[in-house]
Amino acid sequence: MLSYGRQTIDEADIEAVVSALRAPLLTCGPLVARFEAALATYVGAEHVSVCSSGTAALHLAYAALGIGEGDEIITTPITFSATAAAAYYVGATVRIADVDPRTGNLSIQSVEALITPKTRAIVAVHLGGLPADMAELTQLARRRRIRIIEDACHALGATYRGTKVGGGDADAVVFSFHPVKHITTGEGGAVVVRDARLKHRIDQLRQHGIERDPELMDAPPEGRWVYEVQELGWNYRLSDLSCALGLSQLAKLDQFLAARRSLAAHYRAELARVFGTAIGTQPELADRESAYHLFTVAIEFGRHGKPRDQVMYELAQLGVGTQVHYVPLLQHPLHAQRNPSERARARPGADHYYARTLSLPLYPQLSSADVSHVVESLHRVLGESR
Ligand SMILES: Cc1ncc(COP(=O)(O)O)c(C=O)c1O
Repeated sequence: MLSYGRQTIDEADIEAVVSALRAPLLTCGPLVARFEAALATYVGAEHVSVCSSGTAALHLAYAALGIGEGDEIITTPITFSATAAAAYYVGATVRIADVDPRTGNLSIQSVEALITPKTRAIVAVHLGGLPADMAELTQLARRRRIRIIEDACHALGATYRGTKVGGGDADAVVFSFHPVKHITTGEGGAVVVRDARLKHRIDQLRQHGIERDPELMDAPPEGRWVYEVQELGWNYRLSDLSCALGLSQLAKLDQFLAARRSLAAHYRAELARVFGTAIGTQPELADRESAYHLFTVAIEFGRHGKPRDQVMYELAQLGVGTQVHYVPLLQHPLHAQRNPSERARARPGADHYYARTLSLPLYPQLSSADVSHVVESLHRVLGESR
């Protein structure tokens, strides 16, 4: 069974973790800073803090930027729950904008319409790895003096106008290292920021709100051991075992990205050969390059006379696992209950995108033959229903 995504682990990764297991420190050791530095170099940023998940990274970013009770953030309905849930953790309200139906990424006009005096941040998600319209979103945010945050959990290695995602102007950029992502640490995440003080704050919140620098806390000169808990934080640390895996994975990221991009090109060619223009794909845009976390297609299920559920079921019978990214936020009970006033507004872009989208298998170890098999299977399932 081909799944929609999965990790790529080799012997070097296993050896890296085994050797980390033999080191004196399994957590809070030297590999944390090494992984952070390697990530910073890779994305072209100055400050990176790694943490226990992409969700923790979002929570840390919102908290460190001072987003809290009474504040609003604006984000997309086509995202994973955590983008919004992390805002609830800090007591903020989530305003849910609409998307461009072709890309599934935030539509600028819909964001602009939701800005109020309470808006503290716009949170853009790079759906499937395709960067959102960051120039326009950043310009809007700066003009209205609000923060811009990138939920780049799908977009490690993507580029936007020649700059890697994470190396741009956003106030914070968040990544995830869950196994289906571009590199994995088992579970893990990172926050990229442009300001050393903000990194310090994130590092403190990641570790129970603890300050250890004697100079910053009026500690006695002999007190190297002392620490002070200065505010409420969490244990969102990433262990040295995870960082060892992350470092080993990061060394192969360009290889993984090349494989994903080449498989995506093969999908496009095969889909065009078999279906002509009947099946849509996320557009390729001249000023940005997707990191292809996902390969999504847009299918008019109604025209084929089969609901999506049935298509997914029949594909699974043929050994092809698929997924839907995403059921719009407000269709989940949590988000509907949290945001009652958001429910009335129409979101035609999100409705259009959600009705058609399907994520096909994509990960570096997939072969071209697997991709052809997926497309042929789709043809069997949709073709038979015509
Ligand atoms: C867009 C998006 N944001 C946040 C997350 C949360 O990341 P994690 O699973 O590492 O907590 C995910 C994970 O799938 C995601 O896809």
